[in-house]
Amino acid sequence: MHHKQLSGEVYYPSSEVIERAHIKNWDELNETAKKDYPGFWEKMANELHWFQKWDKVIDDSQKPFYKWFTNAKLNVAYNCLDVHLKTFRRNKLALIWEGENGDLRTYSYHALHREVCKFANVLKSLGVNKGDRVTIYMGRIPEIIMAMLACARIGAIHSVVYGGFSVEALSERIEDSQSKVLIVADGAYQRGKIVPLKQIADEALQRCGTVENVLVVRRTGQQINMEQGRDMWYHELVNLPIANQNCALEIMDAEDPLFILYTSGTTGKPKAILHTQAGYMVGVYTTLKFVFDIHEEDRYWCAADPGWITGHSYIVYGPLLNGATSFLYEGAPNYPYPNRWWQMIEKYGINILYTAPTAIRGLMRFGESWVLRHDLSSLRLLGTVGEPINPEAWRWYYKVVGKEKCPIMDTWWQTETGMFMITPMPSVPLKPGSGTRPFPGIEMDVVDENGNSVKPNEEGYLVIKTPWPAMLRTVYKDPERYVNQYWSRFDGWYLTGDSAKKDEDGYFWIIGRVDDVIKVSGYRLGTAEIESALVSHPAVAEAAAIGLPHEVKGNAIYAYVILRNGFEKSSQLAEELRQHVAHEVGPIAKPEHIEFVDSLPKTRSGKIMRRVLKARALGQDPGNLSTLEE
Ligand code: PRX
Repeated sequence: MHHKQLSGEVYYPSSEVIERAHIKNWDELNETAKKDYPGFWEKMANELHWFQKWDKVIDDSQKPFYKWFTNAKLNVAYNCLDVHLKTFRRNKLALIWEGENGDLRTYSYHALHREVCKFANVLKSLGVNKGDRVTIYMGRIPEIIMAMLACARIGAIHSVVYGGFSVEALSERIEDSQSKVLIVADGAYQRGKIVPLKQIADEALQRCGTVENVLVVRRTGQQINMEQGRDMWYHELVNLPIANQNCALEIMDAEDPLFILYTSGTTGKPKAILHTQAGYMVGVYTTLKFVFDIHEEDRYWCAADPGWITGHSYIVYGPLLNGATSFLYEGAPNYPYPNRWWQMIEKYGINILYTAPTAIRGLMRFGESWVLRHDLSSLRLLGTVGEPINPEAWRWYYKVVGKEKCPIMDTWWQTETGMFMITPMPSVPLKPGSGTRPFPGIEMDVVDENGNSVKPNEEGYLVIKTPWPAMLRTVYKDPERYVNQYWSRFDGWYLTGDSAKKDEDGYFWIIGRVDDVIKVSGYRLGTAEIESALVSHPAVAEAAAIGLPHEVKGNAIYAYVILRNGFEKSSQLAEELRQHVAHEVGPIAKPEHIEFVDSLPKTRSGKIMRRVLKARALGQDPGNLSTLEE
C-alpha cells in the first residue's frame, strides 16, 4: 500500500503486516467513522449479542451525562463466555496461566464458563444481588478474572483494588463503595516472597464497616486468620451443591453499572470511575479487535494487572469478547532471572505482547543477551501503555524484542476513557514516542487556555471533542465532581489532564500530566494520597509530594516533610516515613527520597506550589512566583 511521506523518524508497516490486518486501510475507516460515528459504533455493536437492541445509539440530551445504546438489554459476561459455547471456541483455550512458582493452569471457554457460573452461585449464596458492590483484592491468578465475570453475570458491581495497594488505600475504597462482600486471596507470590493480602485486608476491615462476608481464595496456603461467621473459604463453598454450574444470568440494561474502579485525581480522595454495560462492551471489543488485530489462532498477552483499567479492558473483557486466547502470568518480569518473560513467550508461542514502558526499560537494563537466548519468532505485534515511551526504549523494543517486524501499538488512554483513544493500528506508519492519531470516530485536539487549537508542535491541553462508547458515565455517587473535573474547563469537551503536542502530520505526542497526578512505573498516584499518608504519621506536621524524572520508573516520588515540634530529623525517621507510606498506600507509593524542610512554598490561599518544589529540585527557573505567599 502507498503511504504519504511523513516527517521525522518513521517506520512503515510491511506488506505482510498489512495483508493480515483486519483494517488494511486506516484512512478509509477513519473517513467512514468521521462522517457518522454513531453509525460506526452501531455496526460494531451488531457483531455482539443482545437480548434486545437499542432505541438510539447515543443520547446526548443530558450531556455530559451521555447514554449509549439506550434501552438495549444484554449481559456482558454472556458475550464473554456463553456465546462462544455454541461455536468451535467451546474447546478453544480462553486462558493460559502460569504462576510465579511455575504452576500452570489452562481453561477452555467451556471450563471458564463453568467456573464463572459456580463462582456466581457462591456469590449469590452470600446474598449478593444485582447492583450490590463487591470488592476484589487479589494477585494475578485466574480467580480474579472469574470473580469479575461472576459479578458481571449476576449484575453485581465489581470494584477491584490492585493487589499492590495496602491498608488505608483498601479500606478507603471498601468504605466508599459500601461493598457487601470482599473477595481476597490468602496471599500473592511476588519475587519468591508472599504478599499477605488477607492480613492486609483484616487490618483494612478494622477501619471500615460495610463488609458482611469475606470470601477467601487459597493461593499460597500460608497460615491466616479466619474470622468465624465472616470469613469463608472459596474452595469449601464451591464444592457445596449450591455452587452448581448452572447459574441464571441477570438481563442488564445498557446503562446499568458494570464496575467501578478507583483512580487518583488531583485533590482529595481517589474517585470511583463508573463504567456501564453496553458502551463499554462495544468500545473494548472493537478497539482490541482492530488495534491488536485479534485472529483466532493468536495467543495474546497483556502483561498488566487485572486490578487496573488496562487489565479490566484488555485482560478480562476485551479478549474474551473477541473469543481470544490470552495468557496471564502471576509474578515479576525478572524473577527468578531477567529472561522470565522471554522464556514464557517462547514456551507458549505468544504472538502479541502488550506492556508498559517501565517494564521495557527495566528489562532493557539487563542487556539484550537475556532476550537473544530465546526464540521469539512467534511475536507479531507489540504494545505499550501507561506513560510516554522514550524513543530509546521504543527502538530497543522494536529491534531486540520485535526483530524489526512487529509494529508497536503505543496506546494512549485512561481509566476514564475505558478504551484506547489515541493509537495506531498495525497498518499505520509509526513514529517512536507517538501514539499516532485518535481511534476512528473520535475527535481529539491540543488547545490553548482559550480552547483554540495550537499550532503544530506547540504544547497545550489534550482534549476529547466527541463522546465515545466506553467513556466513564460519572464519578460514582459524585456527579458534581464528574462535571467539574472533566467537563468544566472547556465547555462540552472532555479534559484529559494531559499536556500534548500535535505534529505537522497530525500525530499526537503526549508530554505528561498537567495536574497533581504522578505516574510512577506507569501507576497513577495522587500527590494527595501520598501526602495524607505522610501526615497520618505522628511525626509529620505537613507534607508535599512531587514526581521527578527516573530512568526506569519514568517518575520517582520525592516528599518534603515539615516535622511536628519535638521530632528530630534523622535518616532513621526518613526510612520510617517511607515504610509508613508503603503500609498505608502500598509499596508503589513509597517515596524515593524524603527531605525535611522548615517551610513549603504556598499560595496566599494556602495551596502548596508543587511546581516550585519541582523546579528547585531540577535546578530550573520556577517561573511566575507572583502568587507565592513568602
Ligand atoms: O498521562 C496519561 C498516561 O496515563 C494516564 C492515565 O492513567 P491511568 O488512568 O492509570 O490509565 C493508564 C492505562 C490506560 C494518562 O492521562 N498514559 C497512558 N497511556 C499513555 C500515557 N501517556 C503517554 N503515552 C501513552 N501511551
